[in-house]
Amino acid sequence: MSADAAASAQGAGWALRPATLEDVEEIAFAELELFPDESWNVFQLAAEIEHPSRRYVVAAEGPQADGALLGYAGIMLAGDVADLHTIGTRRESAGIGRALLSWCEEQARAGGAERMLLEVREDNARARAFYTAAGYREIDRRRGYYRIRGRHIDALVMERPLT
Ligand SMILES: CC(C)(COP(=O)(O)OP(=O)(O)OC[C@H]1O[C@@H](n2cnc3c(N)ncnc32)[C@H](O)[C@@H]1OP(=O)(O)O)[C@@H](O)C(=O)NCCC(=O)NCCS
Repeated sequence: MSADAAASAQGAGWALRPATLEDVEEIAFAELELFPDESWNVFQLAAEIEHPSRRYVVAAEGPQADGALLGYAGIMLAGDVADLHTIGTRRESAGIGRALLSWCEEQARAGGAERMLLEVREDNARARAFYTAAGYREIDRRRGYYRIRGRHIDALVMERPLT
C-alpha cells in the first residue's frame, strides 16, 4: 500500500491489513454479493489465503481494520508476473478499490514481479474503467472464457508494468 493510499484509507475511517483465515467467511459473503455468478466458496478462499504464492488483503472499518469488512483482493505470484485473482469492495467510489490494488501491486513488486496481469469480463464496464484509470491496458481477449447461465462472455486480459 502506498503512503498516499494509507493516508486516505485512515482519513476515511478504514484501513487495510493482510487477510487471515478468520476473514474467509465474511469474504465468502462478499463474493456472493459482488460475483453472484462466479463466487468462490469458503474452501476455495481458505486455500487461496493459505497458499504460499498468494497475497491477500482486506479493507475493513476502523484504523486497525478490525471492523466490518469493506473489501478484499488477492494476487498469485508467478516469477516475473503476478496475477490479480480477485478484487472487490462493498463501498464503491470511496478509494477502497484503488488502495487494494496498490497494496497488491506493491506485494507483487516485493515478490519479484515486473508486471501484473488480470482478467475482466467484457461486460464489466465499471471494473474496466477502474483498471484503465490505474494504468492497465488490454493485451488479449479470451473468447467465451466466462460461461454464465448458458451465455458465453469474453474475458479481456489487461496488463500493467510494475517496474
Ligand atoms: C471495480 C471496483 C473494485 C472499483 O473499486 P472502487 O473502490 O469503487 O474504486 P475507487 O473508488 O478506488 O476508484 C478508483 C478510480 O477508478 C475509476 N473508476 C472507478 N469506478 C469508475 C466508474 N464507474 N466509471 C469510471 N471510472 C471509475 C476512477 O478513475 C476512480 O478514481 P476517482 O474516484 O479519483 O475518479 C469496484 O467497483 C467493485 O468492487 N466492483 C464489483 C466487483 C468487481 O467487478 N471486481 C472486479 C472484477 S475483475
